[in-house]
Formats: sequence, structure tokens, C-alpha cells
Amino acid sequence: MDKVRIYEVGPRDGLQNEKAIIPTDSKIALINLLSEVGFDTIETTSFVSPKWVPQMADAADVLTGIDRNPDVTYAALTPNLKGFENALTADVDEVAIFAAASETFSQKNINCSIAESLERFAPVVAAANAEEIPVRGYVSCVAGCPYEGDVAPAAVRAVCERLLDMGCYEVSLGDTIGKGTPKTIGQMLDEVLKVARPEKFAGHYHDTDNRALDNVALSLDYGLRTFDSAVGGLGGCPYAPGAKGNVSTTALAHKLAEDGWATGLDFCRLADAEHYLKTVIATPAARTQG
Ligand code: HMG
Ligand code: MG
Repeated sequence: MDKVRIYEVGPRDGLQNEKAIIPTDSKIALINLLSEVGFDTIETTSFVSPKWVPQMADAADVLTGIDRNPDVTYAALTPNLKGFENALTADVDEVAIFAAASETFSQKNINCSIAESLERFAPVVAAANAEEIPVRGYVSCVAGCPYEGDVAPAAVRAVCERLLDMGCYEVSLGDTIGKGTPKTIGQMLDEVLKVARPEKFAGHYHDTDNRALDNVALSLDYGLRTFDSAVGGLGGCPYAPGAKGNVSTTALAHKLAEDGWATGLDFCRLADAEHYLKTVIATPAARTQG
């Protein structure tokens, strides 16, 4: 059976959009459960400004508090050198830099233009290379921007090319607001695959209009074999109004299995993690503690 890699982003993308602060211990317990599911990588948290995303203020405590499974790579978002240095101190295994194909989204999300963001990422990649830490790149708004509407596939391609040239081992293509359709995702892939092979890309499809699984199926036809998803289908970017959750890991894993793909995931353990997440999100006490 051919393999598809599911890249679990729930503890980061899933939780960052939760308004009420989730206790650090609950985040750690969730990641510990996810660590037994069979993912090769779990995106655990973000080393971003706590003023911008208060939910991620405990990044270092989360990353240093988990029980590490030696088979799992624990990744985190790092928007600048400060974030990278904090992540390194917390013993991160992999970092991600995150750019956008829309100028307005870039300003709203990371307070700088696309060009400035790429300048800011270069020293992060250099520092990561020096520590032999792999760097993943994200491009947001690949199929539409919450502020600008349509985004030209050529704009997505240009940012992908810069991130790959900079040394990212993979670029994750973020349909941040989940408005992509097989038609628009196909047009975007036609363009980005001009700069690199499909193995260099991942699909990161939010599921606002329930099209994420269709977009995954289309992307598989284009040769992509890595897809981001979040346990419980949680997620959204605080700076992307209207964005809904990532495609649910359970839905994605089951669909891939039905279609004959191997994911290496243990569905029972995944269900345990999802069940635990629901108790964390649903418990009012958990939602109000620091
Ligand atoms: P800024 O305000 O321009 O930063 O924010 P600054 O360099 O001017 O610094 C201002 C203050 O922030 C200073 O503190 C810095 O020390 C501090 P002060 O002197 O005022 O006390 N600071 C930091 N603190 C902790 N960690 C840091 C850090 N950097 C500066 N790393 C910045 C610029 C990028 C930091 C800010 O805009 C930010 O944190 N943005 C993050 C927004 C975010 O996390 N968005 C969600 C993730 S992206 C996403 O979800 C999309 C994705 O899923 C793909 C998709 O779906 O499309 C990946
Ligand atoms: Mg996202």
C-alpha cells in the first residue's frame, strides 16, 4: 500500500484559535496521547508573541513538559529569531516559518510585508541549519485571502520558491480560510509544481466549506503525499476571520484508508486523543484556568 503522511497540527493550529485559555497540563496530556497514535511529526505549539496569540504563551512549558516519544518529531512555529531561540532552548526538533501569498494577510498576521517576512526568516533558517534543525515553510492564503479575496497562483508560486530556495525541506500550502475548491486548488498546484516536485509540498486545507477532503483527493492526483490535519477538526487562524478548522485527522485518516492508502495511524488511539480533546474543550473549568 502506498503511504500518505498525516502531519498533526492540532495542538498548534487546533488550539491557537480557542478563545479561553486551555491549561498547559491539558495541552501536554493531549500531545502525550497523540504521541502514541503513529504520527511521525506533531506540531506542538508556536513561539509567537504572547500579545498576539495569548493561547500559545505557554509554548516553552508545553514543549518541555511532554513525554517525548523517540519516534516522533516535535515541531513548533517560529516567526523570528526570538521565537527560534526560545524554541531551541525548549529542545524543539523541527521549526516552521510562516509566510503568506497575500500582503494584507501578512500584515495582519505577522505585522510585516511578504518581502520583510522573508528577510526575517532568512536568519531563522540559518540558525536552524547551524543546529541541524529541519525547517518547514508555510504559505497562507493559497486559495483566497480573508481580506483581499482571490489570490493569484503565481503569487503563491513566488513565495514557495523563496522558501524552498531558503532551505525549507517542505512547503505546506495553507488554504487558510478553507475556500479552495478542486478547481482553484488545481490551478494553484499547476503553478507551484513548476518550481519543485510534489514531494516538496504538503496540503494544509481548512475545512470551512467541507471541501478539504475533495481537495486532498485532487492533491493526491497531483502527487502530494503529505497532508496537515487537526485532531477533532479544530483550528483556524486568529487573524483570518471566518476561517474554520483544519480537516479533521479522523476524517482524513478514514478517507485515506477507504481509498487504499496507508497512514500508519492507530485509529483507536486517535479516537482516545479526540475524546480527550473534547473533554478539554467542553469543560468550562478547563476553559477558564490559566
Ligand atoms: P511585532 O509586534 O511586530 O514584533 O510582532 P516586534 O519584533 O516589534 O516585537 C514586539 C514585542 O513582541 C517585543 O516585546 C518582542 O520582544 C515581542 P516588548 O518589548 O514589547 O515587551 N516578541 C516576541 N515575544 C515572544 N516570542 C516571539 C516574539 N517576537 C517578538 N517570537 C510577530 C511580530 C511576528 C512576533 C507577531 O506578529 C506574532 O507573534 N504573530 C504571530 C501570529 C500567529 O501566530 N498567527 C497564527 C499562526 S499562522 C497560521 O495559523 C496559518 C497556518 O496555519 C497556515 C494556514 O492555515 O494558512 C500556519
Ligand atoms: Mg492553518
